[in-house]
Amino acid sequence: HDSKAWSGRFSEPVAELVKKYTASVTFDQRMAAFDIEGSLAHAAMLNKAGVLSDEDLAAIRGGMAEILEDIRAGRFDWSLDLEDVHMNVEKRLTDKIGDAGKRLHTGRSRNDQVATDIRLWLRSAIDDIAGLIAELQTSLLDLAEQHADTVMPGFTHLQVAQPVTFGHHMLAYVEMLTRDAERMQDVRKRVNRLPLGAAALAGTTYPIDRHYTAQLLGFDDVCQNSLDAVSDRDFAIEFTAAASLVMIHLSRLSEELIMWMSPRVGFIDIADRFCTGSSIMPQKKNPDVPELVRGKSGRVVGHLIALITLMKSQPLAYNKDNQEDKEPLFDTVDTLVDTLRIYADMMRGITVKPEPMRSAVLQGFATATDLADYLVKKGLPFRDSHEVVALAVRHAETQGVDIADLSIDTLRTFSPLVDEDVFAVLTPEGSLAQRDHVGGTAPNQVRAQIARHRARLAG
Ligand code: ARG
Repeated sequence: HDSKAWSGRFSEPVAELVKKYTASVTFDQRMAAFDIEGSLAHAAMLNKAGVLSDEDLAAIRGGMAEILEDIRAGRFDWSLDLEDVHMNVEKRLTDKIGDAGKRLHTGRSRNDQVATDIRLWLRSAIDDIAGLIAELQTSLLDLAEQHADTVMPGFTHLQVAQPVTFGHHMLAYVEMLTRDAERMQDVRKRVNRLPLGAAALAGTTYPIDRHYTAQLLGFDDVCQNSLDAVSDRDFAIEFTAAASLVMIHLSRLSEELIMWMSPRVGFIDIADRFCTGSSIMPQKKNPDVPELVRGKSGRVVGHLIALITLMKSQPLAYNKDNQEDKEPLFDTVDTLVDTLRIYADMMRGITVKPEPMRSAVLQGFATATDLADYLVKKGLPFRDSHEVVALAVRHAETQGVDIADLSIDTLRTFSPLVDEDVFAVLTPEGSLAQRDHVGGTAPNQVRAQIARHRARLAG
């Protein structure tokens, strides 16, 4: 009836809808180059083990090279009848080279084959993502450098809290992305182990050399248990969790960009090429890109939930459930890659507006803590100092001025410890300069952090 690799056992063809329902070729064909790479390594190992002849190996290599070229040129005709990428490639190979093609699957199953393909595909994606994270960090560092002295209000509860620099604020995101990059490298260690050799679930009777295959494919090690090797997708879950965190970090930054670009705030402008207009309101310029990033973070977190739920309750070893690992994983990578790319470019196109930032600092009593610290350094216990400054802020508020605008005499009515030198700490610049320690917002500390990150990225 049909020509499926496994149809010998069956007495009627698979129902049309079932064929569509169970096939994965529409989406797993994107792993084709890795499927071929894995097959070539497997064939080379079989040859070394004396299981596959030199002639067969040469024929397999020749056939696979042609197939890869056809796939790259878009000439490969993918067949739903052949279910998935693995059987499409294998069938084409056999059409081309005959029996040698039929010998390729010796000592192998699609179960260890697919697990190998996903790991090779994901390893390459992680390496791309690592490069893109570094690129985004570089554009944040450039922005931080231009604004190492630019005063902006730091917020808690979205209320003006203390002055920080815009550079310091950008560096907070560089830190988050540094941890994201570390997480990616850590996941990569566990992705980079070879499942091949596990065969269907129990290993194989041929004298295989798994370490040789691992070496050919650049894996650090082999998976040590055949049942585990074909059945767990924890590495994909881990990756999607790490990807979710990157998206969540960018979602937070997006929220800030959107807020800062609101005319009510007016701290920044985003280049036109990242915004769109309104079909009805002629005046509108909307921050669509950050809004979509914020939205797409939900999509990636959704994939994390999908994958972790997919794994739940699966008995050992392989189950077809695992075919559902690919679309969430692929879409996570696609979404993350596009987001990182567009974000690096968008951050280069940000215009920072120092004036509105500075005036927001001045309107928010942002140096009240500095006044409290000043009094403490003159001998007042901090809790008393807090109270004194709170009264001064209340007074300034009734006058509609900043505490820096109060006269020395007025300030002295709150505490006799106040001297002329108080004004040096009450300005935003004075406030920044005093936070001069590792992790602080003083401009020289911001510059030191930028240098540290640049050295790290260069190294
Ligand atoms: N397309 C399948 C997947 O993605 C390949 C493995 C199929 N193995 C099997 N025994 N049906 O998981």
